Amino acid sequence: MFGILNRRRFLAATPAAGALMQVGALAQGAGTKIPEKPALMGGPKARKDRFDSWPKFDLTEEKALLDVLRSGHWYRGNGQFVRKFEEAFGALTGAGQVLATCNGTSALGVALAAVGVEAGDEVIVPPYTFVATVNAVLRANALPIFVDTDPETFQMDHTKLEAALTPAVRAIVPVHLGGNVCEMDAVTAIASKHGIPVVEDACQAHLAEWRGRRVGTLGDAGCFSFQASKNLSAGEGGAVLFRDAAVRERAFAYHNNSYTVSGGNYRLTEFQASLLLAQMARAELQAKTRSENARYLTTMLKEIPGILPTAEYGGTTNNAYHLYMLRYSPGEFAGLPRAKFLKALAAEGIPASGGYAPLNTEASLLRLLESRGYRRLFPESRLKQWRESNHCPENDRLCTQAVWMTQNVLLGQRSDMEQIAEAFRKIHGHAGALSA
Ligand SMILES: Cc1ncc(COP(=O)(O)O)c(C=O)c1O
Repeated sequence: MFGILNRRRFLAATPAAGALMQVGALAQGAGTKIPEKPALMGGPKARKDRFDSWPKFDLTEEKALLDVLRSGHWYRGNGQFVRKFEEAFGALTGAGQVLATCNGTSALGVALAAVGVEAGDEVIVPPYTFVATVNAVLRANALPIFVDTDPETFQMDHTKLEAALTPAVRAIVPVHLGGNVCEMDAVTAIASKHGIPVVEDACQAHLAEWRGRRVGTLGDAGCFSFQASKNLSAGEGGAVLFRDAAVRERAFAYHNNSYTVSGGNYRLTEFQASLLLAQMARAELQAKTRSENARYLTTMLKEIPGILPTAEYGGTTNNAYHLYMLRYSPGEFAGLPRAKFLKALAAEGIPASGGYAPLNTEASLLRLLESRGYRRLFPESRLKQWRESNHCPENDRLCTQAVWMTQNVLLGQRSDMEQIAEAFRKIHGHAGALSA
């Protein structure tokens, strides 16, 4: 869809486009009135109020924390809340086996170790994710193999997965980025064909679903984060869902500094568990609000040329919308660069960001692969081959086009969504002047 010089784009690209664009917006039904002047050009802001703050809490959370404090039992060894949280999170997600951990990064590390990833192994990851996904692989002294991103969905492109496998791959880590869901039929089919465990990174996807099943239960292990920004939060925290009790047992030992495996201390505290139990009572309703608002926002934004809200695969029965993600095409906005578009949105009172940079070419990763340790683990011929095949062109492009809003903007009213859409329309309607 991008790169086609259609009539709208031609209009937006011409300096005299201002008035014509407004008429264009009317004609295509993108708005019911001529958009006002953008705030960046001195017009009124599309939104004056701040969006809902995050996290949400009341006396329930206060009581939960005080109960732990007064009990004097602050860790899982002598408390009851971590165990209760594991039971409740299992019931919420439909998982048989749950292990709470101190954060999402440790959840990934524990899961990779529990499914058998060792130093010198290789692990499939996407290049479009938070750096922790890749760091967990590197902390396991394994080699991350990057599979390009599907720009329509922002998820790992499952059609490129099988070709990326090597004999040394010991885990596949699909990341349900932004709360949207990877094509899990394809991922699990390829994994089982090759006998490779799947470790889902569901750190951004609490309550997302694939064919009616909650994510995190679709692979051998599913990792969650409860860090401050997440849809379910205790400031910090994590959990892993397991299919198999024996794998959960190995993971428990690993996270509990057991003598049987060389792991560490990755335990969740009783304070965090009690907070999570209280927060969990709010999770389903918040998820429903986010989905309804996001869907409504999509119906409005998809009418604006150059704004492409993220698509979902057919099996997705719930998108958790940790992020509201879309692609922005400057070509439909008179060449307005993304940075200026984001600035114009901020001026309207709509906070948005440009998202991630490509992880597969991150300087620190490339340096690490040159290190003494990595050169001992992997022959130079393998590292050379890795460098030669480490290309994710779709992801590189996506990183220049992405625009995100965070989940808290979706927790309000439909009128909030209308203000967001109005901000986009204003900028589109005056793109020629803004980019001049
Ligand atoms: C996709 C993804 N993976 C892993 C993590 C790591 O989680 P944490 O920050 O709890 O360690 C995060 C979040 O921060 C994330 O977004």
